[in-house]
Amino acid sequence: MDCFNKPVSRLKTASAKWNFDDEHILSFSIADSDYPTAPAVIKALKKRCDHGIFGYTRIDDEYRAIIVRWFAKRYRYQIQADWLVPTAGIVPSIALAIETFTNEGDAILIQPPVYNPFYTVIEATKRETILNKLICRNYHYEMDFADLEKHFKNGVKMMILCSPHNPVGRVWTKEELTLVVALCKKYQVVLFSDEIHCDFVLYDQAFVSLGQFIPEFSHLIIGTAPSKTFNLAGLKTANLVIPDDDFRTRYLEQMERHFASLPNLMGITACKAAYSDGEEWLEKQLQHLRNNHHLAVQFLSSHLPQVGIAKLEGTYLLWLDLRFLNMKGEDICHGLKALGMIVNEGQNYGRECNGFIRINLACPQSYLEKGLLILEKFINSQTKTS
Ligand SMILES: Cc1ncc(COP(=O)(O)O)c(C=O)c1O
Repeated sequence: MDCFNKPVSRLKTASAKWNFDDEHILSFSIADSDYPTAPAVIKALKKRCDHGIFGYTRIDDEYRAIIVRWFAKRYRYQIQADWLVPTAGIVPSIALAIETFTNEGDAILIQPPVYNPFYTVIEATKRETILNKLICRNYHYEMDFADLEKHFKNGVKMMILCSPHNPVGRVWTKEELTLVVALCKKYQVVLFSDEIHCDFVLYDQAFVSLGQFIPEFSHLIIGTAPSKTFNLAGLKTANLVIPDDDFRTRYLEQMERHFASLPNLMGITACKAAYSDGEEWLEKQLQHLRNNHHLAVQFLSSHLPQVGIAKLEGTYLLWLDLRFLNMKGEDICHGLKALGMIVNEGQNYGRECNGFIRINLACPQSYLEKGLLILEKFINSQTKTS
């Protein structure tokens, strides 16, 4: 059995996703993976542990060089080492970027259905949330550019782009991103491109980073991290790319004001090992995710054809439409949990997403098989009684 399919219990490990004691429940919620990281990462962390001293840490040139190489190879753009700003995570970085580049009350645009902390950071920083809803055509989501321009014209100061998009699974094309960049330039909107899922482009599409638009467009902050790719979210390590000198200086000053500049020693150790020696493992993981995706789509199409399935291009998150049940989202989730399956409720990602659920596919295949059977049992029980 390969490392992606071997069940490893996460109960009693202080996991945010498996924060219960019942071994009969399976969690398909929060976006981390239920298999261990790459062996090269574990080896590097063990070696660092053996050293025994875990004092204050600084980012060294080797760290920057490793990241520059990874970006050039995997995302096909060249960054300068000093454009990199290591941080403790993408969500806190978005909050800090909002504080740095906008003022209280300013309008910040997001594209629902979208990763729920985007809403909470905007609210927490006392800015106004502007919604540019994605259009769903046959379970393939697209941007509404006319609506986007209308909002930009009305004075949006910053856009938070989710690329690839959680939860709808889009990998934005060069054409789509070119239009976003053109509008940001025209209306002087600062763009935060959250590219945390960029290593999960499952099929033959190429991931297009906003970094490919530098230097033509530089009022840009790109958020990347090894955390999803290598299952390191608990090590709280991300890397921003801020190409504009003035922007970067302002951002770094804001970090200083929050005393948020020192990195996590284990996080940077893991990141170095992952980006230096983890690529082969990543390719195997991608094959595992394709297998799981294929399994889920096959099962749903043959056993539950009423379920709408968003076309998954990127991320490991499957967005499913159960609106035919005519149930409240919370009742769907409670019903599934009672049968042993935890999923994320659609309304977390957008007000109009009652009846959708999000399922995390980054798990052993045996978990997914059990989860799909639970989903079938639940749907059958509801459709028979109604
Ligand atoms: C789109 C997106 N951005 C950010 C995060 C979280 O990033 P971090 O843990 O670095 O704050 C997630 C986690 O699910 C995510 O899906």
